Parts: sequence; structure tokens; C-alpha cells
Amino acid sequence: ASFTADPGRKNPETAIVPRTVAGFFRENKELTCDGVPLSEVARAVGTPVYVYSAAAIEESFRRFDRAFAPVSHLVCYAAKANSNLAILKLLASLGAGADVVSGGELRACLVSGFPAERIVFSGVGKTEEEIRQGVAAGILAFNAESEREIEKIDAEAGRQGKKARVALRVNPDIDAKTHPYISTGLARNKFGVDIGRAREIFEHARRFENVAMTGVQAHIGSQILETAPMEETARELVALAKDLAARGFPIETLDVGGGLGVPAGSSRALSQEEYAAALLPHLEGVPFRILIEPGRSIAARAGALVTRVLYIKQNRGRRFVITDAGMNDLLRPPLYGAIHPIESVGAPRGQTVTADVVGPICETSDFLARDAEIPDAAEGDLLAVLDAGAYGFAMSSNYNFRPRAAEVLVEKGSFRTVRRRETFEDLIRPEAG
Ligand code: LLP
Repeated sequence: ASFTADPGRKNPETAIVPRTVAGFFRENKELTCDGVPLSEVARAVGTPVYVYSAAAIEESFRRFDRAFAPVSHLVCYAAKANSNLAILKLLASLGAGADVVSGGELRACLVSGFPAERIVFSGVGKTEEEIRQGVAAGILAFNAESEREIEKIDAEAGRQGKKARVALRVNPDIDAKTHPYISTGLARNKFGVDIGRAREIFEHARRFENVAMTGVQAHIGSQILETAPMEETARELVALAKDLAARGFPIETLDVGGGLGVPAGSSRALSQEEYAAALLPHLEGVPFRILIEPGRSIAARAGALVTRVLYIKQNRGRRFVITDAGMNDLLRPPLYGAIHPIESVGAPRGQTVTADVVGPICETSDFLARDAEIPDAAEGDLLAVLDAGAYGFAMSSNYNFRPRAAEVLVEKGSFRTVRRRETFEDLIRPEAG
């Protein structure tokens, strides 16, 4: 029998969480992704490498889709979490929609097979060029974040002889109780418009002939671990949308954003079903199509960053495990204090040790884990940094002139490289010298 490599547990060998989902498991003592040993991937592709489970991504999407079946809905995957084209294509083929935040993401989603009518375009600073692209494509909706933006969309739609659908992103001043850098629904955050001004903004928008004001949206933050703030947001959006519909606006969509968290360590994540169970009582019977924009909860647990131990060193009693992946590969620990469980790829060496797992970058902020209980490791060992499928590769950089990692997708028992490791030549190509 196989057991999940339940992230964060102390002893991977004795944990007995039954295998219910796809992803990372220990089989014959080796860490595997849906049957493929991670050591094999590292041998073939080198390290550092991001490894993704197609089955885990599919499972998470389908669970959202099924859980929201009681209402008319569309799951719009937040492409920013992981925009590898193979993953976008997979989700598009499953019938997902997409939430994009740049012209680049819009194009990536279109070439990956998302129909324009399943794409919403979010973001506080859309350029005129991005608006042009969205109007030309005929997207489901712009999630507009200011009156001025609606005016620009109207002007562009007029130039193209089209009518653009616009949803207003409102800021409900609700505390998502998450890290301040990823909290977006408070009055002091830059996102959306004060919900108290929404009606006035809709009324003003009546003068625009080339936009249809078809929806309301809110996204109060990311990595949210309790349902109460999300429920409150849904309640406020429903009240607002009903009122706007009563005033004669052609409201079609009510978009509750993303944000469902993936907790660090062994704490259990709120499931897609629990999330839906919290929101549905507020949404059932409402005459609008419900949009959700999950990113992390679809991709995070479907990915691991596999890295090799370069050195072990002990400084005044502090143990440093120095790996070939650094903050340029995975920025979340230094940027948000995020905790990513670390597992040995080979058979665990028996005991755990307390150590700092650090990268080769010339900064003290370059750590994957600090003061962490990790499997004992020796030089040359492979480690897997779990829960890294969302905002991992997507936020990686070339800092220190380091090529970005390769990405591998595991599908139906085999794996393929879906992004080759960058080379020195890739890095210098845009430079004029
Ligand atoms: N919709 C909008 C408008 C968003 O801004 C975001 C995320 C999402 C949906 C998806 O949220 P999710 O379901 O993934 O929580 N880099 C940070 C997370 C930033 C999230 C930004 N917006 C991290 O690594 O934790």
C-alpha cells in the first residue's frame, strides 16, 4: 500500500494517512510523484527541478467544479500561481476558465486553449495595450479596479466597434487574516473600489456606450485559512449584485475571487468541499453565474522543488544544509515567512535534525527553511521542498545570474520536461553588452 507523504509530519515512515489524492507519496521508502521516483527525474533532468503532478491538478480542479455544481458557476484558475503552458493546457482541456492579470497571461491562456469567453482579466494597473488585447479577444469580463479604467475600456471598445463586459472589483474592507503582503480586501489596500461607492460608479457608467456592466467581483487576499471572511465577502457581493440588478444593470456574474489557503506543515487544508459548503448557502438561488478564482489551492500541493545538497556545515552549533536551490528558485520563505515541508527523496536516514536549509545566493535572506526539523541529509542527497507548485517557479528569477530551474510534469506514470532548464545563453540573449 502507498501512503501520502503528508507534508510536515515528523516521521514520514510511520504516518499513515490513506492515499486519497494524487501527488507525492513514499513508495518503497522513495519519494515519488504518482509512481515516478523523484530520484529518476533528478537523474534525467538535473536539479533544481520543479516536479508537478498532472493528476493532482486535475483532482483539485474537478473537486472545485463538482463542489460548486449546485449553482451555475465557472472555476477561473488564477494563472499567476503557475503559468507553465502544460498546466494551462491541462486546465483548459478540463473546461476551466482563467483569471489573468497581464497581457502576457492573457496570451498564454489563449494559446493554451482557454476560450476568451472563459477568461476574466484582473489587475489594478492594466495598460492601454492590455485593455486593447482583452477587448480584441472578447473576454468574459474585465475586473475593473477604478472608474478611470472603465472609461479607458469604453474608449477602446468604441475604437474596436465592440461592447466590452465589465465587472467592478469592490473592496469590502474585510480582514482576510493572512500575511499583510497578500491581504487585499482592507480599505488601506490598493485593490478595488470602496464597496460603498459601487452603486455610484455603476450609475456613472451608464453613460458609457461601449461597456456592459455585467458583474461584481472581490478578492480579499490569498492563503486564507478560515471561511468567515470569505462568507462575509460573498454575502456583501450578493446584496450588492441583487441591488444593481434591481436598478436595471445586466448583472450576469458574481465573482468571489480566490484565496483558499494551503496551510504549512501538517495542518489540514480546508477542502474544496468545505469551502463550497461555507459559500453555497449564500449563493444558492442567486440569479447570477458564480465565478471563483482559485490559484494556490489548485497548484500548490501538486508541485515539489527537488534540490541537491551541496554541502553540510556546522557553525557554532548551528547546522546549515546548503542546497543547489535558492531564493531565486523559491522566494516564498524569505518573502512571506512561508513554511514549506522538506522531505528526503531517498529513504530517510532514520532521524530528523534541526537545521537551516539555505541556498547558494549571497544573501542572508536566502533560505528554504530555518530552524526546521528536517530529515538528516548528507552531501549529494536529494531533498524535496513540498507545496511548491503555486507561486514557486512563477516567482523565480535570474538573481545572481542563475538560470531558472527546469519544470517536469508527471502524467499517467511517466514524466516529461515542460520547461527546459535555462542556459547562460538564454540569460545573455536580451542584453546589448
Ligand atoms: N484572484 C485575484 C484577483 C488575485 O489577485 C489572486 C492572487 C487570486 C485570484 C488567486 O489567489 P489564490 O487562490 O492563489 O490565493 N505570491 C503569493 C500569493 C499572491 C496572490 C496574489 N493574488 C504567495 O506566494 O503566497
